[in-house]
Amino acid sequence: MTPERPHSTPRTGDPSSRLSIDVRREPGDDHSERDELRAALLGDPPRIPSKYFYDHTGSVLFEEITRLPEYYPTRAERGLLEARAAEIVETTRATTLVELGAGAATKTPILLDAMEAAGRLRCYVPVDVAQSMVRHVAEELTGRYPRLEVFGIVGDFVEHLPELPAEGERRLVAFLGSTIGNFGPEERVEFLSHIAEQMGPEDRFLLGVDLVKPAEVLHAAYNDEAGITAEFNRNILGVMNRVFRADFELDAFEHRAVFEPVERRIEMWLVPRSDQRVTIEELDLVLELPAGRGILTEISSKFDRASVAAMFEGAGLTLDAWYEEDPALVGRFALALGRRRDRISPSGE
Ligand code: SAH
Ligand code: AVI
Repeated sequence: MTPERPHSTPRTGDPSSRLSIDVRREPGDDHSERDELRAALLGDPPRIPSKYFYDHTGSVLFEEITRLPEYYPTRAERGLLEARAAEIVETTRATTLVELGAGAATKTPILLDAMEAAGRLRCYVPVDVAQSMVRHVAEELTGRYPRLEVFGIVGDFVEHLPELPAEGERRLVAFLGSTIGNFGPEERVEFLSHIAEQMGPEDRFLLGVDLVKPAEVLHAAYNDEAGITAEFNRNILGVMNRVFRADFELDAFEHRAVFEPVERRIEMWLVPRSDQRVTIEELDLVLELPAGRGILTEISSKFDRASVAAMFEGAGLTLDAWYEEDPALVGRFALALGRRRDRISPSGE
């Protein structure tokens, strides 16, 4: 279902009258999701898709990560947005912000403030698997912006977003936080192609990307001293236990995050310290994991301008603008702004 268009006469009264939430799916609801998870766990190496990190506990732990001294991406992206939001809003002339994987949307008000200052803010559409986050963000932002309409969508943005919501609005589709890095190389082009196909000629796409940098900086960001990333990583096994009735013993697994220089990505693993036999009732599966046989829980790819331009090109997007931090900061993070590439008919018309 595509949310209906916002009312042409904005309502300023009861915030709840400007808010709606569409729950499309929750993790584990669906047969195809179970098949996907079973295949991933039985793969070589065994994997758990990263979307399962984000139950309520995982979402709260991720927010803690964003405040850690070692985890620079959120602070870097916030700085960039603060510096460039007015320009982005001016060039895109967007009235509606659709945010994929919005999470706690802590940086979103920077864009919404700029849209409001330009007199264009009408609608915000957070999309996320984490239902508690979508509800929280929708309530907070309808309270904060007296005319804003919020249409929250709870679901997997790969599986449950066949079309972009708020059609007919001038949309800025934002995918922040470098969550694109959590897709594999083919998956991310496929995902962005799907987004590009749904975009109208006036819509724009804003992508946050973490940049390639020295391995020590990356290593520290994913192996923080306080152990929050390790807790976030192990929590995915807690999600397996709760949602799929598994019996993983969380403490039997060691958190490992390593930078792979060839693929230019962090890989996050959970490695059993001793042989593990895990029963996953909902999947009708018994998993044998010998000591040392890790489960890959996340990849976090790092980019540069050329790799983002190539990804856009492959997805049918044109890269219009590239905003990067001061090179003196070793180019820690960047924002890429794009649009759908013009479609040329086979006859060339
Ligand atoms: N955009 C925020 C949050 C990034 S964390 C930021 O920049 O800080 C990644 C977010 O994407 C989480 O909130 C998680 O729940 C969501 N997410 C991950 N995989 C998803 C999927 N397949 N479908 C929908 N949301 C997903
Ligand atoms: C959401 N995603 C972009 C984060 C990342 O950096 O890949 C998730 C994360 N994993 C460990 N720390 C943070």
